[in-house]
Amino acid sequence: MPDGVSAEDYRLARPVWTDISLGAITENLEEVRKLVGRPVKVIATIKADAYGLGAVAIGRHLEGLGVNGLATANFDDAVALRENGVKIPIVLFASNLPSGVKTLLRYDLTPSLYDLQTAKILSTVATRTVNVHVKVDDGLGRLGVKLVDARRFIQSVRQFPNINVEGVYTHIAFSNDAGEAWSRRRLAAFVELIGKLEQEDGLKLDFAQASASSTIICGFPDTLNTIAPGHLLFGLCPVQKQLVRTWPFKHAFKSLKARLIHTVQHNPGDDLAISGQYALRNAMRTGVILLGLDNGFRMPVTSGAYALCGGKRCSIVSVTAEYTVIDLAAAPEADVGDEVTIVGRDGAEAISLDQVGEYLGVGATIASLDLRRIPVHYTDNDFSR
Ligand SMILES: Cc1ncc(COP(=O)(O)O)c(C=O)c1O
Repeated sequence: MPDGVSAEDYRLARPVWTDISLGAITENLEEVRKLVGRPVKVIATIKADAYGLGAVAIGRHLEGLGVNGLATANFDDAVALRENGVKIPIVLFASNLPSGVKTLLRYDLTPSLYDLQTAKILSTVATRTVNVHVKVDDGLGRLGVKLVDARRFIQSVRQFPNINVEGVYTHIAFSNDAGEAWSRRRLAAFVELIGKLEQEDGLKLDFAQASASSTIICGFPDTLNTIAPGHLLFGLCPVQKQLVRTWPFKHAFKSLKARLIHTVQHNPGDDLAISGQYALRNAMRTGVILLGLDNGFRMPVTSGAYALCGGKRCSIVSVTAEYTVIDLAAAPEADVGDEVTIVGRDGAEAISLDQVGEYLGVGATIASLDLRRIPVHYTDNDFSR
């Protein structure tokens, strides 16, 4: 909000907002701990701007809840966390070139290591012992030193001065049956690696982790001392519903709403060029809200997508850079200033984030919306700093 503008005036000038429940995140963290069922350290994963919810606000909240660290792959988000006073370790899953590590140190970020070139540069530029986490690729095929090479790699890294391997981690993610069976074997292989590192190579690890949301929600056996959940903290399910036996999690993303800034009565024969409806056959009344492509919103890929206005379903007519136009046929009384719901409840009707994900044709809806360009109301803040 600009300086000197009251909250009320700001809402009138910028009538679009989301409600994000910090209380839901508090409860979800508790539920994760219950599911794991043993004491573990938690590195809370807040990739993709905390899955779209706002890295700084969410990171600060999680720090207040006592997590042991935060992790992201985004250098900018990590810097913003530090600049906003976050003190706990921030692991950068990856975001830099080897020669970029010196800048990570400036912000006291914990680098991930998976190549010796980075280790060499780090060892040279560090003026004190730097904690690092070695990233192991356990079959995801994305990033990290391959599991079969990990022991040798870690032995080499430990030869460098100024580097302390305090963590070793991998990421095991799946969404369906086949992935689950495969992931169980991969987790077992990683746990075996950690056992060898600790028992045979004498490495004492403060953070050894492989479990994130999919392995936790499916109850994989895990003996490692740390977990790194993301999705579950925000009430998001990363796996197909049939793989889940219990779902105690709550959506942190409660609603995405806006107010009508304009309505138009179109007559038969009028053109709606923007939505490609030329010479309308019937009269049509439309309304405009301030939500557009710049917020990661887009034209639905399926038919029948709607927003709610006055508790009624209003189909989406067009989405452009900063505006969405809806058809007000079902809400003839709707006027400038009335509330429009994209996600959330309005009277007897509600639209879930999953429904929006379906009509936008994307899986991870939150991350695909860019809430950095939408005012966010953080609610249920049950933790006071
Ligand atoms: C290395 C690593 N650990 C943990 C996570 C968190 O995964 P999830 O959000 O499924 O819990 C991610 C997310 O991509 C990741 O890359």
